[in-house]
Amino acid sequence: MKCRKCKAPAEVPLPSHNTAFCRDCFAAYFTGQVEKSIRRHGLINPGERVLVALSGGKDSLGLMLELSRMGFDVTGLHVDLGIPVSSLAARAKVEGFCTLHGLKLRVVELAKHGLPIPDVKKYINRPVCSACGKIKRHWFNRVALEEGFQVLATGHNLDDEVARLFANTLRWDAGYLSDQGPCLDAENGFARKIKPLYRLTEFETACYAFLNGIEIHTAPCPYSSGASFTGHKELWARLEYTSPGTKIAFYDGFLKRGRPAFAQVEQESGAPVAPCESCGSPTSTGTCGVCRLGIAVAERRAADPDRQ
Ligand code: AMP
Ligand code: FES
Ligand code: ZN
Repeated sequence: MKCRKCKAPAEVPLPSHNTAFCRDCFAAYFTGQVEKSIRRHGLINPGERVLVALSGGKDSLGLMLELSRMGFDVTGLHVDLGIPVSSLAARAKVEGFCTLHGLKLRVVELAKHGLPIPDVKKYINRPVCSACGKIKRHWFNRVALEEGFQVLATGHNLDDEVARLFANTLRWDAGYLSDQGPCLDAENGFARKIKPLYRLTEFETACYAFLNGIEIHTAPCPYSSGASFTGHKELWARLEYTSPGTKIAFYDGFLKRGRPAFAQVEQESGAPVAPCESCGSPTSTGTCGVCRLGIAVAERRAADPDRQ
């Protein structure tokens, strides 16, 4: 197979675009898709500082490299969850990557803030993944606001977004359907949240990471039963195989026609937002959910006879 653009031997087949690219033309295609996302949805304005949430996986590290090459002022943020073995490995990949490319990095250690994920798992009687997601989002926003970043970028790709949209649609979850998308505007003490990779599939971000020699953390979280939305992603892989281009058409169609319709009918949730009494993060409950979680974990840890 030959590259559609330059006729050199192709290295990356892209059936959904009915094409294949060599390494250099794939890099140009990848950059073009990220540029298109940024331009179409006003994701980053000139002069803005971007905080990129880095898990150590292919998507977030690839995003960081691409945005830095495009000339944006980027700083990485890694949340060290404190999970034995796994968190050490993920953090090492993030730190190695940022050192290699000369990129700025902030690390938040949850253990230093009294909330290592193993303790959340042990002392809190609810699924650890949802609490973990909430804690991570809390720190993404907190670091962005405390350190003057206007934008917070995550590495969600087209497959993540389509699977999430599909799950929200199956439940007709109007609240989520009214604001799912590549850009959530800043409001009420929340930084703007963006997903510049939303036009690129998981396969494409994996190719980008591989072709750029990025060393990634691949081990799944030991506390999760598998990647999220695995079943939905398999279903969509089959749809895409039989009808290439379905994923991006479904998602783009939602952004053009679905989301505005849901946004129109969805009422603002009335509760007023104010800074958390303890940490200053925006909340409608006086003390924010993460601070309350920290207090609950500390109390149960202190009462635990197995602990020292
Ligand atoms: P996930 O929900 O694990 O698929 O992650 C989605 C995105 O969240 C990633 O692409 C990263 O941008 C960000 N992320 C996940 N885990 C972390 C972490 N421990 N530290 C910083 N960013 C993270
Ligand atoms: Fe948060 Fe596994 S529980 S990544
Ligand atoms: Zn708080």
